[in-house]
Amino acid sequence: MQPRERFLAAVRGDALDRPPVWLMRQAGRYLPGYRALRAEHSFWDVCQNPELSTRAALEPLDRYKLDAAIVFSDILVVPLALGMGVTFGKGEGPLIGRPMRTAADYDAWQIEGAVDRIAYLPRAVAHLKDTLKDRYGILGFAGAPFTLFAYCVEGGGSDDFREARTLMHRDPALARRALNTIADIVAELLLRQVDAGADAVQLFDSWGGLLAPDEYRDFALPALQRITAKLNARKVPTLLFVKGGHHLLPLLGESGVTGFSLDWRTEWQVARQLYPKHLLQGNIDPVLLLGSADVIRQRTRALLETMKRTSDGRSCILNLGHGILPGTPPETVAALVDTAAEFS
Ligand code: CP3
Repeated sequence: MQPRERFLAAVRGDALDRPPVWLMRQAGRYLPGYRALRAEHSFWDVCQNPELSTRAALEPLDRYKLDAAIVFSDILVVPLALGMGVTFGKGEGPLIGRPMRTAADYDAWQIEGAVDRIAYLPRAVAHLKDTLKDRYGILGFAGAPFTLFAYCVEGGGSDDFREARTLMHRDPALARRALNTIADIVAELLLRQVDAGADAVQLFDSWGGLLAPDEYRDFALPALQRITAKLNARKVPTLLFVKGGHHLLPLLGESGVTGFSLDWRTEWQVARQLYPKHLLQGNIDPVLLLGSADVIRQRTRALLETMKRTSDGRSCILNLGHGILPGTPPETVAALVDTAAEFS
């Protein structure tokens, strides 16, 4: 089976020789080629130049027997296009120059033409597709509305995003307005990536797990549903990753997505019992990749056996339970991917 064929078969729920594999943050700082690229170009330059973005996206495919590529970009292209000023401080994570804390801040958002100012992202997908042809699956992506809202309000990374969560309760109408605006931009951005050649899209709700189930249902889900209404009308396969979202798993079916990318703390069987027919992806702990190759092989084989036993291997994608960590040795990634490639 060709990689793209395997990826598409998993998405459709068809029989497979073995589950396809790709890894969240498979391109990035752990790879020497990426670091070399970044020595020459700024992060936003790599994202905004389709040729550089494709170079970053291809490096893991050249090294590992992966089945799919993810376009090289970032979820923070949305606040950037809204005029919020997004930079990456050394080691401090993202910084947003003009956070959204009041109605006046929201009114300053440059909503008109925002998606057009992210045209470089669908262009990067088109360049990637042109380079890969039909050999590999291609994923587009965007931030889920709550996670983008969280960065926009907080103004950067945080352990608890208390400004963002406070705003939801202090001014729920403003929070909903902002979430809806973000959702509409994200939906259009994802559709443009599909038009450019993405076979499926992933929504990253990296901070959704901070919310209690009733908060997730009140704020995050309606915004996700706005997106899936548009994508499902076009039959676009969608994956939703909610970091730390185990307690939300029973609700997530209401989001309307095709499948779930499971956090490493979720037990595969538990998710499969809740969602017998959905596409499930995951969920090796990325910290394992900092350890021994033997343990990685053993855990990967065990997860693949679980996928086979609980789902006949259908509707399963092997991945991590969160993104590859920057200090990961490239060799240990091979131990994971090779174990998948040799599995039958
Ligand atoms: O192969 C890939 O997955 C690469 C594409 C990709 C990036 N970011 C590149 C990137 C993807 C899918 C993302 C998603 C992303 N970005 C998420 C969701 C996934 C998750 O990890 O939860 C989030 C929360 C972001 C926001 C963001 N962008 C953060 C927290 C950072 C790291 C900041 C830092 O300096 O530590 C970024 C920057 C970023 N995005 C880098 C890369 C490779 C590092 C930039 C660099 O220094 O070169």
